[in-house]
Amino acid sequence: MKTYLIAANWKQNGTKKSLSRLTKGIIKSAKNKKITNSIILLPPSIYIDNISTLLKQKTLQNKKISLGAQNISPYIDGAFTGEISTNMLKDYNCKYVLIGHSERRHIFLEKNKEIAAKVKLAIDSKLSVIFCVGETIAERNKKETKRIIAQQLKIGLSSAVNLIKKNTAKLVVAYEPVWAIGTGRTAKPKDIQDVHIFIQKTLSIILGNKSKLIKILYGGSVNEVNASLILKLDNVDGALVGGASLNTKKFIEICSSI
Ligand code: PGA
Repeated sequence: MKTYLIAANWKQNGTKKSLSRLTKGIIKSAKNKKITNSIILLPPSIYIDNISTLLKQKTLQNKKISLGAQNISPYIDGAFTGEISTNMLKDYNCKYVLIGHSERRHIFLEKNKEIAAKVKLAIDSKLSVIFCVGETIAERNKKETKRIIAQQLKIGLSSAVNLIKKNTAKLVVAYEPVWAIGTGRTAKPKDIQDVHIFIQKTLSIILGNKSKLIKILYGGSVNEVNASLILKLDNVDGALVGGASLNTKKFIEICSSI
């Protein structure tokens, strides 16, 4: 049976209290509903310590929930005010890091080269990367979706090709059309499938045959209503969920929708 990866990107939302409640709710419901899919929680970094403790306390028999960060510094350590290193994350049992999210690309103006440095550093530090790609609405209207995604993949993964070839579990790709994030507009099933097939082909050019093992998630307004249809599509191995992951009931429905 296929195990799907469902990642909760909480972005810059919540408080210690609300996110603790959300985490406890997810742990409890995941146990009760006997969810067989893998869940990844991506809290704001300041709460990683707290969520890590909750997961340790409550998930003794439930190894299905792992922890990740929404961002890392592109540098190992040193004089980089405000940044968080991969080693710091590993102190709190983080297994994953989100890199290349469209909000980092478009609001914080991260370029493909900086993103490539982060991917290499994360995998060097034994974290797994959830690598986000996706086109803006202007790029989509100009029919540039595939060109943009190919470029994001080629440059973003360029420094880590050998590391990923050695261990394909270190990379998960998330296709997130920028125009679908937080807008309530999801991509059409046919478009999701086409782009996922394209990502798979591009990965095989960059990484060779083993790239078939790399999971490709869809993200962008995934909710409890559309999740089952999206997750059933060929080449979709899971979802990256923003808004709907802030609600225990909705998130658990998404996780148990397939
Ligand atoms: P959304 O966010 O589910 O709120 O659209 C997804 C994401 O940004 O990862």
